[in-house]
Order: sequence, then structure tokens, then C-alpha cells
Amino acid sequence: MIERTLVMIKPDGVERNLIGKVISIFEEKGLKVIALKKVRLSKDQAKAFYIVHKERPFYEDLTNYMSSGPIVALVLEGENAIKRVREIMGATDPKEAAEGTIRKLFAIDKEKNTVHGSDSPESAAKEIPFFFSEYELIALS
Ligand code: CMP
Repeated sequence: MIERTLVMIKPDGVERNLIGKVISIFEEKGLKVIALKKVRLSKDQAKAFYIVHKERPFYEDLTNYMSSGPIVALVLEGENAIKRVREIMGATDPKEAAEGTIRKLFAIDKEKNTVHGSDSPESAAKEIPFFFSEYELIALS
């Protein structure tokens, strides 16, 4: 099934000039970039994006970190894009990430782990409109 998923290149990836490298990896695996923007989230926006994690002990740190510098948000499209993107990113903790995955290659730790990808179709359906209007998606696809 052709799916769309929301990816963020996190502040550690933007800061270390990894935007191009990360996007290249997804493109080389056949995913299409159908929308793209660089933004800086406010603390409140980061809290809203990660609201599902609000009871987790790392929620405060995570939302401080995600609002600490610019990020790049992208919508990727392709066959089974949600699962594919998660495979290409690798495990949340770079210590557990498989060889060749983005997090194995670039992540610093569990928090500064370079990329985010929607974890399910339900998450993608909430996360894509968080950054992109329907018009932006239709216009570019
Ligand atoms: P992400 O895919 O963006 O979704 C939730 C994020 O929370 C996750 O990536 C990690 O960066 C972060 N995270 C998950 N577990 C922990 C943890 N134990 N400590 C700090 N951050 C975490």
C-alpha cells in the first residue's frame, strides 16, 4: 500500500549539517519527498507534537530538546512508507540500531537521535497535518 509518513530531522541533525545526507538515504531507498520545510518549534508546539508521551519521564527533556533549535519536517511517500522509514531509521537508541541505519550512522543518544518517523498510520494522520496543510501536500504530490 502506498503510504505517507511524517519525518523530522531533529536539532542535532540540522546542527551537524546532516540534512542532505539523511534525505539522500531516504531517497536512495525509493521514498519520495512530497513536502519539506525547516522550522523552529516553540516549547508549546513540541509539547503538542509529542502529547502522546506526556506521562513519560522524558517528556520534559524531549520537548526542551525539540524546541532548542531548527528542525526539518518532511512528508515521505512510498510503498509501506511508515514501516520502511522506521526500518531505515533504526532503533530509538543508537546503541541498539542495526548497521547502516540512520541512527546507527549519526545518532548521539536516545534523545539526540537525529530523526523521527511516524510510528503508525494513526500517528502519521495526526503528524502530517501538524506541519503541512492539505494544499501543500496536494500541490507537491
Ligand atoms: P521519536 O521517534 O522522536 O519519538 C519519541 C522520542 O522520545 C524518541 O524518538 C526519543 O528521541 C525520545 N525518547 C524515547 N525514549 C527516551 C528515553 N528513555 N530518554 C530520552 N528520550 C527518549
